[in-house]
Amino acid sequence: MAEIERWLSKHGLAKYASAFADNEIELGDLTELTDEDLVTIGLPLGRRRRFMKAVRATTDGNARPQNTALGASIVAERRQLTVMFIDLVGSTEISQRVDPEDLAEVLRLFKETCAASVADFDGQIASYYGDGIMVFFGFPLAHEEDPERAIRAGLRIIREVPEIRTHAKLQVRIGIATGLVVVGDLRGEKMFEDGTAMGETPNLAARLQAMAEPGTMIVSPRTHQLAGGAFDYVLQGSFKLKGFTKEVEAWQVIGARDTDSRFRRVEGAALGPLIGRITEYETLSDKWKLASEGEGQIVLVSGEPGIGKSRLIEELRQKAPQGAHEQIRLQCSPYHFASSFYPIIRRLHHVADLRSEDSDEAKLDKISSILKDPSDQVLRLAASLLSVPFEDRLGPLTLTPQQIMDETHEILLDHLLADASDKPVLLLFEDAHWLDPTTKALMDRLVDRLRDLPMMVVMTFRPEFDPGWALQSNLTKVVLRQLDFQDVKRIANEGSITGQ
Ligand SMILES: Nc1ncnc2c1ncn2[C@@H]1O[C@H](COP(=O)(O)OP(=O)(O)OP(=O)(O)O)[C@@H](O)[C@H]1O
Ligand SMILES: [Mg+2]
Repeated sequence: MAEIERWLSKHGLAKYASAFADNEIELGDLTELTDEDLVTIGLPLGRRRRFMKAVRATTDGNARPQNTALGASIVAERRQLTVMFIDLVGSTEISQRVDPEDLAEVLRLFKETCAASVADFDGQIASYYGDGIMVFFGFPLAHEEDPERAIRAGLRIIREVPEIRTHAKLQVRIGIATGLVVVGDLRGEKMFEDGTAMGETPNLAARLQAMAEPGTMIVSPRTHQLAGGAFDYVLQGSFKLKGFTKEVEAWQVIGARDTDSRFRRVEGAALGPLIGRITEYETLSDKWKLASEGEGQIVLVSGEPGIGKSRLIEELRQKAPQGAHEQIRLQCSPYHFASSFYPIIRRLHHVADLRSEDSDEAKLDKISSILKDPSDQVLRLAASLLSVPFEDRLGPLTLTPQQIMDETHEILLDHLLADASDKPVLLLFEDAHWLDPTTKALMDRLVDRLRDLPMMVVMTFRPEFDPGWALQSNLTKVVLRQLDFQDVKRIANEGSITGQ
């Protein structure tokens, strides 16, 4: 792999390696590139900002890109990696108790269960050692949210391993740590056992794993910091660990919260002013005016990652007069593109304020209150959709799976359209490229019903997606293209002022 390609992939820009190669750009040229050059190469706004940040980080860290070329004989690289260790609890005891063949089956099922979760979150099994597994998140594939992915995979493993039906009852302990690591085919003294990763991060993950109680997961301070508010944690304390000079905080992950980082990012961010996008904003606000007057509208906002789709619709959301209309936000998630009705279920959870500590009774009351006087059947269906037990209070659901699907569709459609009977509704549907098929079918029906309602659906998505809705007079497409150079410069300056 060329040096430049390695540097790009280290910073999550591997996709553009061929563009850099076509333009004959080498590692030593990186600091010379201007924003205009990056536009020419074809990087969208978000990636240009990431590129600039990576160049600054590389040059500030005394590790000028040129220097990495010195190590050409070593096929290895430094990058941020999240390392997870999974250990099968009581494996020695199990191995003494069950036949060797049965033991082989136990281990096979354990490994398969872990591997499936790891793969779903784009992790990489680095090695199996005895009855443990070492996993990487961030190599060879890197994502913005690798620590979060690792924790999600871990929570699923903790949940699923005890459900394996085999010759023994199984449990795991998991440790996760994030840090700079040298990965690759390295031959050197401090090389990790199998030569794939070295540094203190794998060591820390292994120590944290050893501290975890059966059925629990402990993460390092850096993992905790990066995965942040997506989960609930308990600080176990600070510990002196073998191989570490300073005490290390150990955070036990209790569970996932129901908001994911995409929501938090928009709501929590101190937004600078909207730059450029005047025509696009005017289109949105004109259509919103029409919709408010009763001519239902659909606006499709598409563009590359980071081009500014969310920022644009956030402007509309903030400027629309509060109180006079209702806002419904549906957010798709990269982790749930295959779960039925996911964005709507999440909204219902949120609106009903369902909490894990609530009793089933309390949850049913909360669901009932948001459905405005539902029949028992509607409440059963809604409770079933939200995985809240209802049989004790309401009796069982006696419908075929197809009937359940059809009736759930009706209830959700009614729920989404309910507010439009007395005030305008702005429905923001984010990241439809991760849309699950059932929600897609529901949205198809909703947009058919929209024409005479005071409602606007704004859907954002990346270019690979297309909802396939027929062109009609109340459907508008807004395709976001790159901003011009001056505007990009202004965003970069605003960013440094607001600290983004
Ligand atoms: N016109 C703009 N004015 C000010 N800031 C902008 C503008 N466009 C984008 N940004 C900033 O650039 C960053 C990326 O934009 P945004 O999150 O809206 O992209 P996106 O198209 O929604 O990406 P994704 O497909 O990943 O959801 C954000 O910090 C956003 O505030
Ligand atoms: Mg977005």
